[in-house]
Amino acid sequence: MTTHTSDEIGLFDAIFTTRAMRRLKPDPVPDELIRKVLEAGLCAPSGGDVQNWRFIVVKDPEIKRQLQIRYKRALDDVIERYRSNPPPPGKTEEQKARMLAAVEYLTEHFHEAPVLIVCCLVDDYARKLGLEKMSGASIYPAVQNILLAARALGLGATLTTRHLIYEKEVDQILGLPPNAETFAIIPIGYPMGRFGPVSRQPVEKVAFIDRWGNPYK
Ligand SMILES: Cc1cc2nc3c(=O)[nH]c(=O)nc-3n(C[C@H](O)[C@H](O)[C@H](O)COP(=O)(O)O)c2cc1C
Repeated sequence: MTTHTSDEIGLFDAIFTTRAMRRLKPDPVPDELIRKVLEAGLCAPSGGDVQNWRFIVVKDPEIKRQLQIRYKRALDDVIERYRSNPPPPGKTEEQKARMLAAVEYLTEHFHEAPVLIVCCLVDDYARKLGLEKMSGASIYPAVQNILLAARALGLGATLTTRHLIYEKEVDQILGLPPNAETFAIIPIGYPMGRFGPVSRQPVEKVAFIDRWGNPYK
């Protein structure tokens, strides 16, 4: 079993190297590391500090398999669109092909990740108020903290949402009550590959000064 537990990585090192790590070893992850990752998630802000997040740590092989079946079916539904989409901004066709291969790998092996953390909200007040853009705003900061904490502990993780294509079936598999909903499933495990820098567009391409369109220098 891998015992890479160093959490001494600096915050910016973690931010700049927290990539989607889709190839994971099936080796178990110590419970105390998952607890630490969850504690990091709980440090995130939530609207009105209501902390109405809930996390399901799925380790049961059969439940993971049931989730994988939906996750795979969802990829089958969208894969042609993924293939015909242009590469993400600033990426080459080759980089896109590598990403798609990793997406397909994770999809086939989703249930082999030692842990899936399902991130939920209960009584999402934003949804009740019809504030569509705010829905999710109280769970995704926690999701990002979880990704960063996993990185700090040498664990690979990926934010995934594709299960939402079969949301109702997933809710049933997980026994969700009617007032709860899932927003992400994060497979976590020791990565097969190495962490490396994320690659994104430069700030100048996406930031403005004062008003839309004013170049950021
Ligand atoms: C809202 C959202 C949904 C995502 N859903 C999935 C998903 O279902 N499956 C997956 O493999 N990656 C998913 N991702 C991960 C993105 O594909 C990933 O962040 C992006 O490709 C950048 O990858 P990188 O950080 O490795 O450069 C999702 C990311 C976000 C923000």
